[in-house]
Amino acid sequence: MSYNNSKISNKNYYSLSQALNKIFYTFGKKRKIIYDLFYITLAFGFYQKISGSILVFLISKYSYKLYNNNNFIRFFLFSGIRKISIENIFKIRNNYFKSFEDNVIEDPVYEKIILEIREKGFCDITKLINISDEDIENVIAHYKANDFYDGHEPMQSSFKKMRYSDLKNYSASHEIFNKGYYSPSTQVSLDNSVIKNLFNNIHFQKLSSLYCGFETKGYLLHTMLNIIKEGVHPVTQYHRDTNDFVDLGFFIYWTDTDKNNGATTYQEGSHRSLNGDFKSNILEVPKGSIIAGDWMGLHKGNAKLDSIQERFLTVMRYGKKINQSHIQSKSYYFL
Ligand SMILES: [Fe+2]
Repeated sequence: MSYNNSKISNKNYYSLSQALNKIFYTFGKKRKIIYDLFYITLAFGFYQKISGSILVFLISKYSYKLYNNNNFIRFFLFSGIRKISIENIFKIRNNYFKSFEDNVIEDPVYEKIILEIREKGFCDITKLINISDEDIENVIAHYKANDFYDGHEPMQSSFKKMRYSDLKNYSASHEIFNKGYYSPSTQVSLDNSVIKNLFNNIHFQKLSSLYCGFETKGYLLHTMLNIIKEGVHPVTQYHRDTNDFVDLGFFIYWTDTDKNNGATTYQEGSHRSLNGDFKSNILEVPKGSIIAGDWMGLHKGNAKLDSIQERFLTVMRYGKKINQSHIQSKSYYFL
């Protein structure tokens, strides 16, 4: 089953007052008016439809690079990706990737990783970056000492913030809030030196630039905590992250995961084509593991927690900053 990430927010999960709250929410920071104005375009389907048509026209008549390298055009048209068919998104991606597939990657370590992501859609890069047990304990203790929003992303929550110790007693009933997924703000993540250093890690920067074929920037940093709760969260169904046409994301697991305990599943090769006999690969990894992936490929989260009580996962995404996910998550207040 395919599930388009953008639909999580297009569907009416929010009342009018919640939607207005979202528009005006600044995470307590000084308002960035221009960004917030463009944030509003995410509420208008007709604007996205027109932007989507213009985008497809521009890219087919000129090139993907024209859109990709121009922040002015990006600001106006980024939300159009929501209304572009997945077939057209894949056409644009595949043409673009083809344009630099013969580029030589000089470093053999990077080359091996990039080729594996191109082939399968993901690669375990744990060996490249050493995360010590002390770092893991430090990160988990830091998050537990801070507040969590009741959604898998703060901007897709009710904005209710809770202490870690209160999460299990929280009993709101909603389609996406309080479904076992909680998230601290990006600021909380940046306040931790282990996380901040990882986000700026040169390997992440280099790998994402090599994979994307342009100089990437970190555009999203967010952590999810899963605990056992009744109900099904949409991210536990197969879906594609349509944040942008091209990007690369790193999933850092702070807890041991296996198929019965929060492991992500990825359908190998589904980032290259829409249909096929994809092999489901359950990413069973020990804590401290890092998976680099093109999350346009079909993947799903896993709410199952049979023997561990909770799962902490940090997601770091790199690409062009002005894109649907950067704006929708209001990451522009932090990054
Ligand atoms: Fe996803």
